[in-house]
Amino acid sequence: MDPLVEIENLKAYYRAFLYGVDREVRAVDDISLTIARGEVYGVAGESSSGKTTLIKTIAGAIRPPLRVVSGKVTFHFDGGTQDIYAMKPEDRLALRWKHLSYIMQGSMNVLNPVRRIRHSFTDFAFRHMKVSGPVFLERVATHLQRLKLDPHLLDAYPHELSGGMRQRMTIALATILTPEFIIADEPTTALDVIVQRDVLSMIREIQREMGSSFLFVTHDMGVHATVSDRIGIVYAGRLVEEAPTAKLFNMPLHPYTQHLVGSLPRIGDATARPSLEGRPPNLAMPPEGCRFHPRCPKRMEICSQKVPPLVTVEPQRRVACFAVTGDQV
Ligand SMILES: Nc1ncnc2c1ncn2[C@@H]1O[C@H](COP(=O)(O)OP(=O)(O)O)[C@@H](O)[C@H]1O
Ligand code: SF4
Ligand SMILES: [Mg+2]
Repeated sequence: MDPLVEIENLKAYYRAFLYGVDREVRAVDDISLTIARGEVYGVAGESSSGKTTLIKTIAGAIRPPLRVVSGKVTFHFDGGTQDIYAMKPEDRLALRWKHLSYIMQGSMNVLNPVRRIRHSFTDFAFRHMKVSGPVFLERVATHLQRLKLDPHLLDAYPHELSGGMRQRMTIALATILTPEFIIADEPTTALDVIVQRDVLSMIREIQREMGSSFLFVTHDMGVHATVSDRIGIVYAGRLVEEAPTAKLFNMPLHPYTQHLVGSLPRIGDATARPSLEGRPPNLAMPPEGCRFHPRCPKRMEICSQKVPPLVTVEPQRRVACFAVTGDQV
């Protein structure tokens, strides 16, 4: 594997006051993973499992009450090595858009609502391109055409576009400088299914053409089946399973992954999908041992006493579960 991003033992906690008590919300708790050059790495897991916090921590976008407790994030951009937490803030900022960019759920946060879309492109990308104004606008127009977007839309205001079109424009903006690494956080969650399909195929096409790596976050396993090359399943701030997409769907090993895959609707099968008992844990007071144990149909005595380590059980597959690895690990 040719690694582009390496995340080692990352812990990021929020400080929160709950019921008058000062607590730490352990949103990212000892996550290690590597994203290869040119791959779409999918992160899945239910709401509040720490996906967005993981992204913020990887991108170095850390503001109180969030803090990085420990761990390391290394990028290999431009043939070099960048340790994101050891970098000066201005150097970290310089990576944005050129090497690393984001696609968020609400496209309105990126496109300036009171200015024509053209200005958003100028604000973000002009100084990086180092060309004259007219050449810059010509390049933007060519980029839009390549993504099958009408360059005339540059003269529109964001509110004049449909949600799907706006999200496609955000993707165009995020990819104008051909970044090596693109982080997408629930980029299609607010869109209806048809528009979602268009946006996903656009992302896939960009990825093929530009060879960028994606960190693609969504709770929607159906979306992962379409776009992700590999998937990491997050439960309550921890990575519990990781595998190439086909393997994960064909033979999920972790009981939580089995639940996620098993609850996907199947064509022609109207039987009710099994639901999971209990609720996701409060990350300020997570269960001891395996965080999934209060809800796990396969739990054993050891599960509430010891944290199952993430073990490589076969090439390209890691799982954190005593029922899979045995309790001697
Ligand atoms: N600013 C904050 N202060 C305290 N806790 C937070 C804050 N933002 C998020 N959290 C908590 O961190 C956990 C993970 O949240 P998040 O990363 O947004 O999850 P996801 O993206 O998977 O829905 C949740 O328990 C959430 O309540
Ligand atoms: S370690 Fe135990 S509780 Fe956790 S998923 Fe495996 S069997 Fe279930
Ligand atoms: Mg989120």
